[in-house]
Amino acid sequence: MCSMGTLTNLLTLLLLCGFVAKGWSSGEGEEEREVGEMDEEIESEEEMEDVLDVEEEDTDWQDMESEEESEEEDAEEAFNDVEDETMLCADYVPEIREKRLPDAVIIGTRKGGTRALLEFANMHPRIMRAKPEIHFYDKHWQKGVSWYVEQMPAVPVSSHHTCMEKTPGYFHEAKVPRRLYETNNATKLVIIVRNSVHRLVSDYNQLRSKRLDRGEEYLSLEESLFTSTGQIKIGYKPLQRSIYHYHLVRWMRYFPLNQIHIVDGDRFISEPWVGLAELETFLGLQPQITQDNFFFNSTKGFYCGLQTVTVPSASPHLWSCTRRTCLSKSKGRPKPPVEQSTYDKLYRFFERHNQIFFSLINKFDFDWTNKR
Ligand code: A3P
Repeated sequence: MCSMGTLTNLLTLLLLCGFVAKGWSSGEGEEEREVGEMDEEIESEEEMEDVLDVEEEDTDWQDMESEEESEEEDAEEAFNDVEDETMLCADYVPEIREKRLPDAVIIGTRKGGTRALLEFANMHPRIMRAKPEIHFYDKHWQKGVSWYVEQMPAVPVSSHHTCMEKTPGYFHEAKVPRRLYETNNATKLVIIVRNSVHRLVSDYNQLRSKRLDRGEEYLSLEESLFTSTGQIKIGYKPLQRSIYHYHLVRWMRYFPLNQIHIVDGDRFISEPWVGLAELETFLGLQPQITQDNFFFNSTKGFYCGLQTVTVPSASPHLWSCTRRTCLSKSKGRPKPPVEQSTYDKLYRFFERHNQIFFSLINKFDFDWTNKR
């Protein structure tokens, strides 16, 4: 749990930035009730408007809700495991393995690059990950911790491995931080963030692409995002999900900042090895992943993984092969049509929110300036 000093600093910062959160001061004994109350209050649309200080007219909240679709599951994007492949070797001796709670969880952000981060991290010989998004803390909580553990990969008991899962839906779900804290307060949290405008457009684009793939029509971003008088609809979920500080403060009530690792998702696209080296350090792992583990796929416009797998036990005829692993077309979609004036409005809207987020994490080196 955050210390009172951290909370005091946080409150001061938020007040200075004009962010008025309700239900923050709490006596320890009232913690559970107040957390619930705070989330309920701020989660109402009117409260969101107050909190974000946005004038709102004509917003049709019902429409906003009905536009929302369930989160995309991207398990098919997971690469084959090296372990699965080594099983093919005649002299492969299986190690004793166990399933346990993950040591680290990528909790967000949706469309931030979570799949690329998880799959590339999995090239590290000491990282093992659950392939699908597990959604334990947001959707399957009632199934219990033993169900959650069952979804994890079986990790070797003899050597220290980091076990991971990713469910980007956790980041913006109010009930998740407390559940995760109470299940395992030592869990290391990883959040990959992109330029808030790009993430919003990507979020919209995912909803749009799924509809178009089914031969259905979909509203333009402008129709989804603006009221008839051109105001930003604060109830638009892809917009809300890009207001990072709003969601992050809920996590900071439970987890100290040194337990939350932020990955720069834009830099991760152009230099994934940099973000991975920082992740290795955060996870306390020996650095293993370098620029040599990547090649640029110019058709796709993104980096792909390049991993040489060797099986020492196959000596004297050392067996090795090189795996080339790219994410498929649902990652790195062509951008949807968006008017320049929409970008301009969005950049103006997010400027203050981004500053609050940077102050919260005390990191100011993101290049989130106005660009398409
Ligand atoms: P776009 O499709 O908008 O380009 P997530 O896995 O969280 O759903 O994030 C998807 C985003 O990951 C993609 O959004 C893409 O920009 C980003 N990404 C980062 N590195 C990537 C890579 N090497 N290959 C494909 N997409 C990558």
